[in-house]
Amino acid sequence: MTQRFPGPATRLGAFGPEIWIADGPTVPFFGFPYPTRMAVVRLTQGGLFVWSPIALTADLKAEVEALGNPRFLVSPNKLHHLYLAEWKTAYPRATLFASPGLRRRRKDLAFDDDLTDTPDPGWAREIDQVLFKGSVAMTEAVFFHRASRTALFADLIQNLPHDFVKGWRGVLARLGGIVEPNPGAPSDWRTIFLDRKAARRALARILAWDIERVIIAHGTPAEQDGQAFVRRAFAWLAGPAAQRHATERNDDRDFEGLPG
Ligand SMILES: [Fe+2]
Repeated sequence: MTQRFPGPATRLGAFGPEIWIADGPTVPFFGFPYPTRMAVVRLTQGGLFVWSPIALTADLKAEVEALGNPRFLVSPNKLHHLYLAEWKTAYPRATLFASPGLRRRRKDLAFDDDLTDTPDPGWAREIDQVLFKGSVAMTEAVFFHRASRTALFADLIQNLPHDFVKGWRGVLARLGGIVEPNPGAPSDWRTIFLDRKAARRALARILAWDIERVIIAHGTPAEQDGQAFVRRAFAWLAGPAAQRHATERNDDRDFEGLPG
C-alpha cells in the first residue's frame, strides 16, 4: 500500500517507524513553483496526527484511512492552511489546531484548539514541539516524533532540488538560501527575526532533540544526519563568530555549505 520515499505525488510513503509522507502538487508562491508535502504520524493510542495536509484525493484518503483515523489536523504555521477545510469536512471529529496568527487569517474555519509551546496531551507521549519565535512575521511550530527521531519543519527549512527552479528564479532561490545543498529559511524571512534571543532559545530546544531524520514541506528531506542538516540550515542564526568558525573548519560536516 505504501511506497518508499520518493513516491508518486499524493501517495503515502513510509519515512520512518510510524511516520509517513505524501507529496502534493506544486503551488505558486511569489512566482516560484513550490513542491508541497504533508506528514502523518500514527499514535500509539490510535488515531493519526496529520501535519500540513495537502489536497485530499480519493487515493490519499484511502491510504490514510488504512493507517487509522485522523485525530489531529495541524497547520504548522499560518501559511499552511489551504486544505484544512476539506480535511475537517472529511473528518469532522478530528481536532483542528490553529498555528499562531491563523485564526485571524482564516476566520471562516472553526478551529478547535491552538498550538502552543507545549505538546497537546493527545500526542505529548510521542511528539514534542517548539514554537519557533523571534520573527515579527510568523511563528512556526516545529515538531519532533520520538519513535522515528524525525523533526518536522514547514517553511523554516527549505531545500529545493538544485535544478528545480531555473533561470533568474533559480538564482534568486539560491541567493535566498533555500536550494540544495544550502537548506534554510528564505533570506528575507531571516532578516526579520528581530528577536534573535527568542529564536536561539527555540533552536537550542530543537537541537536538544536526538534528530536523525528531517521532514520539510518544500524540497528534499533529510533521511539521515538530521542533526547536522538542522545545524546547517540555521547557521544564519548562530552569530558571526560561530559562522566564521564554521567557515574556517572545512571538515566540519555540521556547517558545510553555509548559506549566504
Ligand atoms: Fe510553506
